[in-house]
Amino acid sequence: MAEILAGVVCSHVPAIGAALDNGKAGEPYWRPLFRGFEPSKAWIAQLKPDVVILVYNDHGSAFSLEMIPTFALGCAAEFAPADEGWGARPVPVVEGHPELAWHIAQSVILDEFDLTIVNKMDVDHGLTVPLSLMFGQPAQWPCRVIPLAVNVVQYPPPTGNRCYNLGKAIRKAVESFDQPLRVVIFGTGGMSHQLQGPRAGLINPEFDKRFLDRLVADPQALARIPHVEYVREAGSEGIEMVMWLIMRGALDDTVKEVYRFYHVPASNTAVGHMILENVAPGAA
Ligand code: DHB
Ligand code: FE
Repeated sequence: MAEILAGVVCSHVPAIGAALDNGKAGEPYWRPLFRGFEPSKAWIAQLKPDVVILVYNDHGSAFSLEMIPTFALGCAAEFAPADEGWGARPVPVVEGHPELAWHIAQSVILDEFDLTIVNKMDVDHGLTVPLSLMFGQPAQWPCRVIPLAVNVVQYPPPTGNRCYNLGKAIRKAVESFDQPLRVVIFGTGGMSHQLQGPRAGLINPEFDKRFLDRLVADPQALARIPHVEYVREAGSEGIEMVMWLIMRGALDDTVKEVYRFYHVPASNTAVGHMILENVAPGAA
């Protein structure tokens, strides 16, 4: 059977991708950020997952205001990097895992989570930047990736609680897939940031650090935070953090915190990153 071994959360600031793609990762502004991901790159290189389920949000690249799926699962064989206005990032095409993705779609939809099934979708910085942070700049991504796009751009996004429970349904789906795949789930976006309006540039390290603590130790309480609290405390784009609860729902109630990194700033955003391992994979 397939199993979820661990979860990773991290921010997805587009300027991080641009820094890597343009050879600026060694500059003083960026060096501390990339240094913070060195242990994570070593961790995942050693773990060698077969599949990453990557929870992220599309930023008007694959979808627009013409069509706004709340949860969109990528079931295609491959996903091309999106052109976000400066040409597509020079990163490998993302290879999907259609068999597992369709199995997840069937399992969670029959469990009453109405996902949108997507058979063609370009993937933007929300997905490719976390891959770059965790895997560096390989000629090919070292594992398959199943994208799960969540609407956090147009009100109303899903609640934290809905996300947390979807994570649980995804875990059940993975654990009923009859191939011995080793899976890691990523929750991306955040942490505090606001890109618009009078509060543009807002960062709230106290909220962010408490969020990380609660994500580890008390995710059920965290899942009850209302949208307005994210917006008030973490800025309008801080709402991206509801996606981290999908990752957390897919893990054990008690997890092992393997690594934590918090860095301000990257562009306009507080970068938060954590690796959580399931203590007893398959035991849920
Ligand atoms: C920035 C952060 C984001 O999450 C995003 O989607 C776009 C820009 C930023 O900090 O620049
Ligand atoms: Fe974003």
